Amino acid sequence: MTKDRVVIFDTTLRDGEQSPGATMTHDEKLEIAELLDDMGVDIIEAGFPIASEGDFRAVSEIAQRSKNSVICGLARAQLPDIDRCFEAVKLAAKPRIHTFIGTSPLHRAIPNLTMDEMADRIHETVTHARNLTDNVQWSPMDATRTEWDYLCRVVEIAIKAGASTINIPDTVGYTAPRESADLIKRLIETVPGADEVVFATHCHNDLGMATANALAAVEGGARQIECTINGLGERAGNTALEEVVMALKIRGDIMPFETNIDTKKIMHISRRVATVAGFPVQFNKAIVGKNAFAHESGIHQDGMLKNAETFEIMRPEDVGLAGTSLPLGKHSGRAALRAKLKELGIEVGDNQLKDIFVRFKDLADRKKEVFDDDILALVSTAEDDETQLKLVNMRVVCGTGGKAEAELEMEIDGQDVTATCKGDGPVDATFRAVRELHPNTARLQLYQVHAVTEGTDAQATVSVRLEEDGNIATGQSADTDTVVASAKAYIQALNRLLVRRSKVGPGADTKEISYKDV
Ligand code: KIV
Ligand code: ZN
Repeated sequence: MTKDRVVIFDTTLRDGEQSPGATMTHDEKLEIAELLDDMGVDIIEAGFPIASEGDFRAVSEIAQRSKNSVICGLARAQLPDIDRCFEAVKLAAKPRIHTFIGTSPLHRAIPNLTMDEMADRIHETVTHARNLTDNVQWSPMDATRTEWDYLCRVVEIAIKAGASTINIPDTVGYTAPRESADLIKRLIETVPGADEVVFATHCHNDLGMATANALAAVEGGARQIECTINGLGERAGNTALEEVVMALKIRGDIMPFETNIDTKKIMHISRRVATVAGFPVQFNKAIVGKNAFAHESGIHQDGMLKNAETFEIMRPEDVGLAGTSLPLGKHSGRAALRAKLKELGIEVGDNQLKDIFVRFKDLADRKKEVFDDDILALVSTAEDDETQLKLVNMRVVCGTGGKAEAELEMEIDGQDVTATCKGDGPVDATFRAVRELHPNTARLQLYQVHAVTEGTDAQATVSVRLEEDGNIATGQSADTDTVVASAKAYIQALNRLLVRRSKVGPGADTKEISYKDV
């Protein structure tokens, strides 16, 4: 059977970054875009250029650095948004403008436009975008709750005005697989000109059906799937890239569609996005969760030893986890580390290898065997150079019969400062010392520790979520010392709050934008 190709549109840097707390720095966005491009993502939605100077700069730089991917920016149905979006993407080898408007009754009520007024607006804005570039995508937001006749009418207007991709978003995760397939199929059959454009599907996960709905839409005729790494996104998130890609790869017998994705790069990018966005991946998440390839029960372990296929439908190697993990140790050299990184789908330049090697040696000195998961955590915990707050040194005394005491040395805006604080346990004492050195009113919303590998010398990944004046920021760090990882994660979250504050506070980088100003 010949396979149709499905285009993968990744919106981790736009819809994913919109999840509360998932702020990425400029450099992190560039890094993730490069990984997406290398992995074979066809279209990268790099941001929402009108939203802030920071978003504009990130989209523009990603556009200039892009190699193979189309670089897309989002714009509301307003001429200045569209102009700003084009300004940001225009230096890409392959730029795209994605413009949208909410078409369901609830969404039409927000800007208070009549059906006719909205139809005119769609015609005007898509025509304007099309005069700037021939690669225009248009989305009727909340399409799955839009009246059928009106949906057909506006899709036809957008096609006639020059949109080459029509995206049908299930903005609130309301649809179900059969309905998702039918909607696309009926639109293609009904709307004049529909056979001239690509239909896309964009599903949110409020009922846990985003991936199933996206795959059903493909069966209905969609040829572009919008998704994010780890399913990051507003509320319950989006369709997860890794899930749709692996489902198409493994079930090609019933879904004969191909993608361009190099699946061996999945695990690394998943870990990296989890770290930079500060959203740990749930243990039982399909494909990329820590337990996705773990076998606990005796029957399963026995079956696995006899034939891995008894309990695994894909090999860990297929997604960038080396199956039989040969651990590295402190005598392993740079070449062995490079080979291991390559096996894990991670390609690094000489400078990056040097940096990872230093951290690998430091880890190997403290840990007998360094497993694949340790390496992935190590690569994912790269230090940020631009941060305002840095941990220099720490020492904690704790035990029975008294309060714990943390002695902390930090670099704050280039100045070395120290503090000693007591607390209820080592983590509390450490966080108090950080607060003494950098007074703040951030509230700790979440503190979580996961062991990366087995054993008492395992690295711990600590996740911290902070909230201050409605802004949320998360931090994540791995270390064999749980208290050190806690301090680093807490400091990272504070650094991100500072970035967020500079975006939304006085003199902020972010404009107050809302879907109301369509
Ligand atoms: O979920 C949604 O409707 C969106 C649009 C902006 C496409 O993200
Ligand atoms: Zn969305």
